[in-house]
Amino acid sequence: MTGRRQQITPRAAVIIPAAGSGSRMKTTVPKQYLELVDRPVLIHTVAAFANHPVISQVIVVVPVERIGETRKLLADYRLDKARVTVVAGGRRRQDSVEKGLEAVEPNHEIVLVHDGARPLISARLIERCYRETVETGAAVAAIPVRDTLKKEGPGRMVTATVDRSELWQAQTPQGAGKVLLEKAFQVHDGRDVTDESSLLERAGIPVRIVLGEITNIKVTTPGDIELAEQLVREGKQPDRRRRQMKIGHGFDAHRFAEGRKLVLGGEEIPFAQGLAGHSDADVVSHALCDAILGALGLGDIGYHFPDNDETYRDICSLNLLDEVVKKAEMSGFEFGNADLTIVCQVPKLAPHIEAMKKNLADYCRVAPAMINIKATTTEKMGYTGRQEGISCHAVVLLRKKG
Ligand code: CTP
Ligand code: MG
Repeated sequence: MTGRRQQITPRAAVIIPAAGSGSRMKTTVPKQYLELVDRPVLIHTVAAFANHPVISQVIVVVPVERIGETRKLLADYRLDKARVTVVAGGRRRQDSVEKGLEAVEPNHEIVLVHDGARPLISARLIERCYRETVETGAAVAAIPVRDTLKKEGPGRMVTATVDRSELWQAQTPQGAGKVLLEKAFQVHDGRDVTDESSLLERAGIPVRIVLGEITNIKVTTPGDIELAEQLVREGKQPDRRRRQMKIGHGFDAHRFAEGRKLVLGGEEIPFAQGLAGHSDADVVSHALCDAILGALGLGDIGYHFPDNDETYRDICSLNLLDEVVKKAEMSGFEFGNADLTIVCQVPKLAPHIEAMKKNLADYCRVAPAMINIKATTTEKMGYTGRQEGISCHAVVLLRKKG
């Protein structure tokens, strides 16, 4: 890397090995797919890199039989951008990393490797590791050993106390110039290694230690998931400080009318009747708008978009949602999640739920997984049961921007 020091921002790709079986976790689903607070472990990890300014390509290495599932999961969390690639892994971690390396696009000079099972990685540590790699050629995140170390002999008897003063515990990210990492794989004799630094060391390539973070744990055994949950919930992890939250509720109902389109959640639904209203009468979007306004303490949709104002005649209600989400953003809040229940005897809505979720998620600037939509009949009871119209309930959670 010498001679390139002046170049301030070489492009970096990250390889995320996540093709292990997680045998020590003892769960049927590999640990990287387990839920951690609000999303799977692997999604936490990928999001940290996909949203990081120094990273321009993310390669997620997964078991071959989970490629489809992983792509769907990434799409659900809006991480299916062009720069995120999913490839099949190998038998050992090092084989998975090698396969990931083959998928690095040619215009990347720097490669970071980060375990899929380390979901609490902070943006700061990614940045530190990247900078040190650019500076030195290769870097490993590590933390100094803090406990006294004992060597065990037969019968679990202590045979020695090991000097810990020069000992560090290696974490990831580990970074290297792409050419250096490729060389390290080429000259390697195929023996088992547990990290990239070992490979580079064996190839005689100098690696510098970057101070890691104690919270950057690798979820390995069952207790680790609980510990990671606590770290996320208590905001001990540097990027996930506790943020103020606001909750809101919304309700709306519209009567069926002849000669109108039926629009629900921004989706036009084939049906003999539509709903009466000044706008497109999208009862689902209206309930969601009211819930957001409710959370913000800003009254209701009728106050902001009066039905005697011609501007809003027959308007697509997703535009109103857009306005309301902007109001939330201006107040310093971002969308957390929403749960909606549509009360509707006819038509059947199940085939349209996914499309509605996507529409609403796009306008709320969140992943579709953050919007839940349920539809229910009232067993023919009441005004919706008599097919006089459709109503919708919504609750939302907003979060202060971090
Ligand atoms: N990994 C990989 N390919 C393998 C083995 C491991 O990509 N053949 C990944 C894991 O998915 C994990 C990271 O490398 O994100 C670190 O490995 P480790 O913590 O050992 O995970 P597992 O091998 O899955 O767990 P275990 O050793 O308990 O079976
Ligand atoms: Mg392993």
